[in-house]
Amino acid sequence: MPWWLWVLIVVLVLLVLLTIYDLTQKKHAILRNFPVIGHFRYILEKVGPELRQYIVTDNDEERPFSRNERRFVYSSAKKENSYFGFGTDSDLLEPGYIHFRHAAFPHPSPPKTEADDLPMLKVLGGAHNRARAFTPQSLVYISAMSYGSLSAPAIEAINRGSKIAGCLHNTGEGGISDHHKHGGPLIFQIGTGYFGARNPDGTFSMDRLLESIDGVDVQAIELKLSQGAKPGLGGVLPAAKVTPEIARVRGVEVGVTVNSPAQHRSFDDVAGLVSFVEEIAQETGLPVGIKSAVGQLAFWNELAHEMRSRDAGPDFVTIDGGEGGTGAAPLPFSDHVAMPFREGFASVYRAFADRSIHNDVVFLGAGHLGLPTEAQVALSMGVDGIGVAREAMLAVGCIQAQKCHNGHCPTGVATQNPRLTRGLDPTDKSVRLANYVATLRHELVRLANAMGVDHPGRIPHEAVEIRLSATETTTVRELYDYDPRW
Ligand SMILES: Cc1cc2nc3c(=O)[nH]c(=O)nc-3n(C[C@H](O)[C@H](O)[C@H](O)COP(=O)(O)O)c2cc1C
Repeated sequence: MPWWLWVLIVVLVLLVLLTIYDLTQKKHAILRNFPVIGHFRYILEKVGPELRQYIVTDNDEERPFSRNERRFVYSSAKKENSYFGFGTDSDLLEPGYIHFRHAAFPHPSPPKTEADDLPMLKVLGGAHNRARAFTPQSLVYISAMSYGSLSAPAIEAINRGSKIAGCLHNTGEGGISDHHKHGGPLIFQIGTGYFGARNPDGTFSMDRLLESIDGVDVQAIELKLSQGAKPGLGGVLPAAKVTPEIARVRGVEVGVTVNSPAQHRSFDDVAGLVSFVEEIAQETGLPVGIKSAVGQLAFWNELAHEMRSRDAGPDFVTIDGGEGGTGAAPLPFSDHVAMPFREGFASVYRAFADRSIHNDVVFLGAGHLGLPTEAQVALSMGVDGIGVAREAMLAVGCIQAQKCHNGHCPTGVATQNPRLTRGLDPTDKSVRLANYVATLRHELVRLANAMGVDHPGRIPHEAVEIRLSATETTTVRELYDYDPRW
């Protein structure tokens, strides 16, 4: 046999062995789904920085998550070295740049480990004396993403990871599936489709809600008014996606298109919203909140006014920034409808603080906040809990392929295609999710300590500065017109 035939045989045998290894290993969804060629992604990732430095983009350019931001999530999730060498490559004089003013004497907290809890500083449901009021033990939680927009193994990985990390997991508006029942405590989200809490005609059903949460570890309920990526829009779940399992979970008919209207059918004004929240809280004993992106401000002023005069209403308010993610949305909505997180949140916080009820409400925030700097700025503005959605997706294997809307997600995170979801091993990825959440909390505590306090919710107002120009800075609170007494 000629020598080249021997070489060919050896190469073929090695390729077969590699294919078997790729298909059976459970660490990398990409390799399970795309054996052999999937390795190119890792090779390119390795040499990418060097190539990009000369040819394509730099570390901070890509959106929605830059290479540095993704690297933070990936390395945290894998417990790898997340340090950066040689000093910053950022332009510190660029407008919008954040500077933290550290204390001369850092807080002498006992050395924290990454497994430590980092509780919120307020009691959820405490101000309205809800029967099941509690203090969430992790100020980082998983923001709403439904079963349907994410795959079954992704939901399972996130739920199991939430259990390990001791953080809350928001179901998203698609109801509570079996994949949500792996020990991670839930926030049950109810959207305009009332999935998991609806009558056959699509109206809200309290009985169905009580059935859905019976025996499940649901610790709070969130009423969704809107989300940052597509506020003011309803949703359509095409007939083809309404599998028997999804139909059962959502309480709809198999194989029939489901439309979620843009507005709720249980209330159509602020007084009705407050009454609806109270009704659910009375029936369930749970803290009840609302989630919304920020648009016209009259709503928030009226809500704060109504809540103060009736001493009732949402126990928590989740603000989603216009920069938030979604499974699918039309471009003008993704890009142009709703205020960006900081401006939107500040307006809402001011509406509540002006009426002195800001301490009675737990403020949750989401919108590109799952990174230490962004989270710390949000906390300094009055946010009590940090929601992470796409960062959680990255932690369980997402590579920002931006194919959530067409079912072709190559990592099996945001698709229902069984050929692709088989690559995602929930056991391995649950640990990654938990590692990422724990690392984010750990980084926040380290930042707080550097600023002289023990908890990131207690950093001094003047410690967070934002750059206006190459020669001027202001504090974040001054910029957003916060009264120093708040
Ligand atoms: C795939 C996907 C599905 C989502 N589904 C929901 C949902 O069902 N309900 C909701 O209120 N927000 C939903 N969101 C928005 C997130 O909960 C979150 O508010 C937003 O993405 C901002 O957080 P992030 O920047 O950490 O992703 C979804 C986001 C993504 C990426």
